[in-house]
Amino acid sequence: MSDRRISGFKPTGPLQLGNYVGAIRPVVDGQDQPTIVFVADLHAMTVPGDPQRLRELSLQVAGLLLASGVDPRRTILYRQSDLPAHAELHYLLECVATYGEAHRMIQFKEKGGGSGTRLSLLTYPVLMAADILLHDIAEVPVGRDQRQHVELTRDLAMRFNERHGPVFTVPRATHPAIAARLADLADPAVKMGKTNASSNGVLFLLDPPDVLRRKIMRAVTDTAGEVAYDPENRPGVSNLLELLAVATGDDPRRIASGHTGYGALKRATADAVIALLEPIQRRYHALSEDDIEQVLAAGAERAAERADATVARTKAAMGLSSARPARAGSPATPETVPASR
Ligand code: AMP
Ligand code: TRP
Repeated sequence: MSDRRISGFKPTGPLQLGNYVGAIRPVVDGQDQPTIVFVADLHAMTVPGDPQRLRELSLQVAGLLLASGVDPRRTILYRQSDLPAHAELHYLLECVATYGEAHRMIQFKEKGGGSGTRLSLLTYPVLMAADILLHDIAEVPVGRDQRQHVELTRDLAMRFNERHGPVFTVPRATHPAIAARLADLADPAVKMGKTNASSNGVLFLLDPPDVLRRKIMRAVTDTAGEVAYDPENRPGVSNLLELLAVATGDDPRRIASGHTGYGALKRATADAVIALLEPIQRRYHALSEDDIEQVLAAGAERAAERADATVARTKAAMGLSSARPARAGSPATPETVPASR
């Protein structure tokens, strides 16, 4: 059975610390299992953007993934648009997913709605399902905000297998134990995100140390004045504790018991985040565009064979090619047995 993992990153802005703790680090730490990481540039096109900036951000995202420890000797790293199979499987899965399903997705409810909304924003979770199902994936390490999309992926895979025979592996999402949804430092009610309205509460991986320190020292806490880990009632302080915990490998409750004031907690957090990001920034600045392009090209080549085979299998099962599907009851490949939850 497959033990492959996949995670994708949208080049809609510079990567931020939520990406790192929610997905990049779990991906990097688990590379002894077969791992695929990709720059989700097709997903970036669901909202308006500039082609030149998209190209630059795609390279930057790939470079930061490498600088963060994605190891191209083991892990496949590629750019989504270099693999046409994503778009092809996306369409086939649009013929499995329903309008109601797509319409219920939280991200569409939050960002979409107006008549000028791109149609792709509605269907993007189906593209994400295609990204995953293309590669016979068992595990999808992502932040908590992506859970609903992986649930949809599971539903589509199971529906398809029921209708057409066992073609897809059914994946499951995994989330880090702490900071699965890192909050914006200036507004703990919203998640830290690349495209948040203000960048005051967003720690970008490439922010210089003085900027990181300033943003952390200005983080919203609360008026109680006491350091306690209580995400429900004290989201601001608890978010700082989670940040310090993930940066130092400690536990937020234990850190809370060792701190009495917000000032010292913020200073410790700033020191830890700066120390965490310094080597990543150094490695990133040592990479050339050519280095990154080479890794991406080799990655797309390595990813293509399995992806093309999945599309061929899917088309055959749907009656779209002259190839006959695998006999009912016999998996098309030994790896198409649905993974358990
Ligand atoms: P995106 O920036 O939307 O492409 O997200 C890429 C990955 O980072 C996904 O797995 C997200 O769930 C994760 N991620 C983004 N922001 C956060 C956050 N604030 N906390 C935890 N994970 C996050
Ligand atoms: N939708 C994800 C996000 O917004 C990015 C993504 C696209 C992804 N395809 C994926 C993540 C496949 C994991 C697996 O963060």
